[in-house]
Amino acid sequence: MNQPTNIAPASGKLGVLMPGMGAVSTTVIAGVEAIKAGIGAPIGSLTQMGTIRLGKRTDGRSPLIKDFVPLAGLDDLVFGGWDVFPDDAYESAIHAGVLPKDQLDQIKDKLQTVKPMPAVFDRNYVKRLEGSNVKSMKSKWDAVLEVRDDIKRFKADNGCERLVMIWCGSTEIYMAPHEVHNTIESLEKAIKENHQAIPPSMIYAYAALQECVPFLNGAPNLTVDVPAMVELAKQQGVCLGGKDFKTGQTLMKTLLAPGLKARMLGVRGWFSTNILGNRDGEVLDDPESFKTKEVSKLDVLEYILQPEPTTKCASTTIRRAVTKKRVGTISTSSAGWACRCRSRSIFSAAIRFWPRRWCST
Ligand SMILES: NC(=O)c1ccc[n+]([C@@H]2O[C@H](COP(=O)([O-])OP(=O)(O)OC[C@H]3O[C@@H](n4cnc5c(N)ncnc54)[C@H](O)[C@@H]3O)[C@@H](O)[C@H]2O)c1
Repeated sequence: MNQPTNIAPASGKLGVLMPGMGAVSTTVIAGVEAIKAGIGAPIGSLTQMGTIRLGKRTDGRSPLIKDFVPLAGLDDLVFGGWDVFPDDAYESAIHAGVLPKDQLDQIKDKLQTVKPMPAVFDRNYVKRLEGSNVKSMKSKWDAVLEVRDDIKRFKADNGCERLVMIWCGSTEIYMAPHEVHNTIESLEKAIKENHQAIPPSMIYAYAALQECVPFLNGAPNLTVDVPAMVELAKQQGVCLGGKDFKTGQTLMKTLLAPGLKARMLGVRGWFSTNILGNRDGEVLDDPESFKTKEVSKLDVLEYILQPEPTTKCASTTIRRAVTKKRVGTISTSSAGWACRCRSRSIFSAAIRFWPRRWCST
């Protein structure tokens, strides 16, 4: 196996910069602060609770991943970000309604220190949002320079050794790859010409990569799925990744579909529903943003069930549907059926499959 030669040691403070300080990011920040304060446990965290088996099963050697691989500790994390709304992490977490107020109140002082920087925002790409905490951009290239300045300032102000950026912003409208995304040169030319194929998420990603900051995408946006960004990441020697978080509907699909595939059960159709609430729900009520989500959610099944989604006895075209349902604000206490998945949003439902012996075609 090729050995990586150039990985920075996990020393010093790690700044976690998140464009988008809504439900996802404030829940992460609150979770980490609750653990640090001794009032929470890292349930569901691979880095904190996962183990790795060394040698044979019978050797009984399964250390925690965090003890085996050099990773930043929770005490070394410093959070920051940008948002269209000026609310600090406490106010935003209250608005998101994922965690109950009494829990948030116990870490209120920590959350209140995380204040969003003004966002690079353009309503052409997220139509249902309008906020006041927005950079007055003269051009897309100026926006890149401003974000690069933000990154440098955050790093210096917080004494961070390293940084990572994770897009936790709203889902942008559906965008297909364009020829300007093909090379670093054409991407830069397009940013300078204010080309419409450059949404805000690409501005953050490009700025991060130029600052040698790894970029991860938590939304289904196109953002880094283009050759120019991959090339730039390679050139800068930083990591690039992500495509929509896998927390609710997608998690259920990716748990169930491999089982159906492994047992060669024919899948004829798959119906899943996004139960949307809060700000993410408002954004995804716009058909252009929802299309981005829909396409990414359907792709995951095709990938898992390849080369064909069905067994021979079933129909050769899988019938799938991803729908959405708006339910306004959901809190963990008021909607138990959804809260275990994502508190307010995604719930994978009604999977229809027919074991081989039931198939007629
Ligand atoms: N909640 C989940 O479990 C989940 C699962 C999978 C994917 N996602 C995706 O993750 C993203 C965040 O989800 P959420 O539930 O936190 O949504 P949210 O609406 O609560 O938060 C998103 C935040 O991004 C801000 N924003 C939008 N455009 C921005 C920009 N250009 N710059 C800075 N901030 C911007 C919004 O003002 C909002 O506060 C969405 O794209 C969502 O589809 C969420």
